[in-house]
Amino acid sequence: METNKQLIDSFKKVCLCRSIKAGTITAAIQEGSLTFEALRKNIGVGTGNCKAKRCRAKIEERIKDHKASVAAESETGTPPCG
Ligand code: FES
Repeated sequence: METNKQLIDSFKKVCLCRSIKAGTITAAIQEGSLTFEALRKNIGVGTGNCKAKRCRAKIEERIKDHKASVAAESETGTPPCG
């Protein structure tokens, strides 16, 4: 059921001001935007009225999770999927 959970999660809006969904953010992270600033430049997160007060922590958490899962994959020898 992990896939369904991921699918539902991908439709959640993370940056509410700009209506940017988790799926968009995840895709950008996987394409190499590994800092909040890079995501801001590439997809515009954090550029809304609240100036990232509501979304920054959630986005940084996602970047951290991504880095942790890549590190775990390299430790187990499983090639990272692209
Ligand atoms: S929620 Fe992202 S800029 Fe306001």
